Amino acid sequence: MSGRMRGRTAVITGAGSGIGRAAAELFAAEGAAVAVFDVRQDAAQETVDKITAAGGTAMAVAVDVSSAESVQAAIDRTAAEWGAVHVLYNNAGVNSTGSVAEATEEDWDRCFAVNVKGTFLCSRAAVPHMRKAGGGAIVNQASVAALAGIPNFAAYCAAKGAVVSLTRSMAADLASDGIRVNAICPGTVFTPLMEPLLRARGDGDLEAGLAKTVAKYPIGRLGTPEEIARVALFLSSDEASFMTGSIVASDGGMTAV
Ligand SMILES: NC(=O)c1ccc[n+]([C@@H]2O[C@H](COP(=O)([O-])OP(=O)(O)OC[C@H]3O[C@@H](n4cnc5c(N)ncnc54)[C@H](O)[C@@H]3O)[C@@H](O)[C@H]2O)c1
Repeated sequence: MSGRMRGRTAVITGAGSGIGRAAAELFAAEGAAVAVFDVRQDAAQETVDKITAAGGTAMAVAVDVSSAESVQAAIDRTAAEWGAVHVLYNNAGVNSTGSVAEATEEDWDRCFAVNVKGTFLCSRAAVPHMRKAGGGAIVNQASVAALAGIPNFAAYCAAKGAVVSLTRSMAADLASDGIRVNAICPGTVFTPLMEPLLRARGDGDLEAGLAKTVAKYPIGRLGTPEEIARVALFLSSDEASFMTGSIVASDGGMTAV
């Protein structure tokens, strides 16, 4: 590791599992102090235990990104503990299935509350701390669902599309503060979020669901959490100093065909 994040404080939401956990471990290995935000305290603590066992610095923060009060308290606690917030990876997200004819209003609202409002609330709370630090980097987690119409994911496609638009708007607003804002559009990554969907796609057979999904990827396989975490690390680092408002697909060619 090259210590690209040495001296930085990074907040990663949804870091108790999947891509967020992989990112928390990677950012910590690169020298960041990582605030592991998750609605599940036990999951966040598990990530922290892994990081500290590897010699890194992290703290678990129980937070619901869809609640303004919870987010403000969590971000302020991080800044109070470590003196600054330099990086925010808005990764927490939930799925929602069904076409517009089937999706429930409750599912639609939850999908937007976590994926879109959560991104807004965490960014709103973090920006003053980044301004105080003289700048920062925000990475928003979108999805290939923002770039292509994935069947039976109406609310999720719409929510991730909103994350892409919000990213561009934030980039325009915050550039003068030295805050860069970019989004990642990952293709399918095998995580707890995706497992039930892949199983359903195979009519209950996970292997069949995986095969159907992999067929859509020119690269011939799904992504790994670590592959997406490396993109987030790059966008958060000074190596991406001329990038803001970029929508970066990391999808094995899925949206190229
Ligand atoms: N896995 C994929 O194929 C894939 C593809 C494209 C985009 N994404 C996006 O990547 C992100 C991470 O996905 P993942 O596959 O690692 O999922 P995951 O389910 O493994 O992890 C998501 C984490 O977010 C947490 N979380 C959920 N709601 C929250 C809330 N209200 N407040 C705080 N934390 C909350 C969960 O507890 C969980 O630990 C999501 O935004 C997802 O939409 C995933």
